Amino acid sequence: MAVFSRIAGTGSGLPEKILTNKDLEQFVETTDEWIASRTGIRQRHVVVEGETTCDLAERAAIAAMQAAGVTASELDLIIVGTTTPDLIFPSTACLLQHRIGANGCAAFDVNAACSGFIFALSVADNFIRAGNAKTVLVVGAETLTRMLDWSDRNTCVLFGDGAGAVVLKADTQAGILSTHLHADGGKKELLYNPVGVSVGFKPEEKNAGVRVLMSGNEVFKHAVKALDSVVDEALEANGLSKADLDWLIPHQANLRIIEATARRLEMSMDQVIVTVHKHGNTSAGSVPLALDEAVRSGKVQRGQLLLLEAFGGGFTWGSALIRY
Ligand code: COA
Repeated sequence: MAVFSRIAGTGSGLPEKILTNKDLEQFVETTDEWIASRTGIRQRHVVVEGETTCDLAERAAIAAMQAAGVTASELDLIIVGTTTPDLIFPSTACLLQHRIGANGCAAFDVNAACSGFIFALSVADNFIRAGNAKTVLVVGAETLTRMLDWSDRNTCVLFGDGAGAVVLKADTQAGILSTHLHADGGKKELLYNPVGVSVGFKPEEKNAGVRVLMSGNEVFKHAVKALDSVVDEALEANGLSKADLDWLIPHQANLRIIEATARRLEMSMDQVIVTVHKHGNTSAGSVPLALDEAVRSGKVQRGQLLLLEAFGGGFTWGSALIRY
């Protein structure tokens, strides 16, 4: 009998500290009006000294496991989508595994920038479909604000910190109908962080490389185009039409990008989960945070059809079509 993955529980982990657009006005030349009208962002959560990606991942994971009624010993696999791991190694998934007491199961990170959660979800789904795992914890967790140049108004106003998680369980009924992943390494220069291990840290330069470099306008255009094609691809692969969709749960980078995808899908904004005004762009955290909010607010109901999508540095982009 075919095996599918079902979402058994969801959870969130947000830092307590909030930075509003008005707060940003104090130290960078910007305005609440500019940020809100160009991006939809009003505030973002930010980590404080000593708070890490794994701390946020742990909160999200525990909430998702409680919602799913799953204990740590039942987990076969933990996958964390992150571009801002606590350490270069061990992976954040290994750190998280020990925190929650799931020692022994497989655990690894996936780096696909803002698409990290969709990529991690897809890997987890494939493990379950292949019969190699029955219960999987999938997390998207980031502390992007750790690598922002707070004097660069082109980037520092866009990002925030946070984590979201889901527990997937094997089931005879779908569940995740399909996932679709893409990447184009040829567009690296449009959105990247130049710091790295093997290219060298250049410690002589203050904050060398510890910053996001982005051609915002170009990224915007590529994102809209890639998301248009990936949402069409997901529906076609399943023989479904736009009208079958109940909810769009998009990556929360920019309200205008979200609205463009909703228009493409002929969906009203009432059918779109929006958190970008509260969270900013939390990279791999954004889609599972939005999903958890949709579930806990009672908007998303069992049996409904959800389309999740994301676009990020790499470029990477992808979707997941889910019968919740
Ligand atoms: N506050 C005030 N002015 C700002 C500003 C800020 N925070 N950031 C940039 N500006 C200025 C620019 O310097 C530019 O000024 P100029 O015309 O004098 O040169 C002007 O605003 C317009 O910049 P532009 O880049 O054309 O604006 P935009 O409408 O494209 O919006 C982004 C900029 C970044 C909001 C938008 O391009 C975007 O969201 N892109 C996608 C980014 C993204 O989602 N990245 C992550 C993908 S996962």
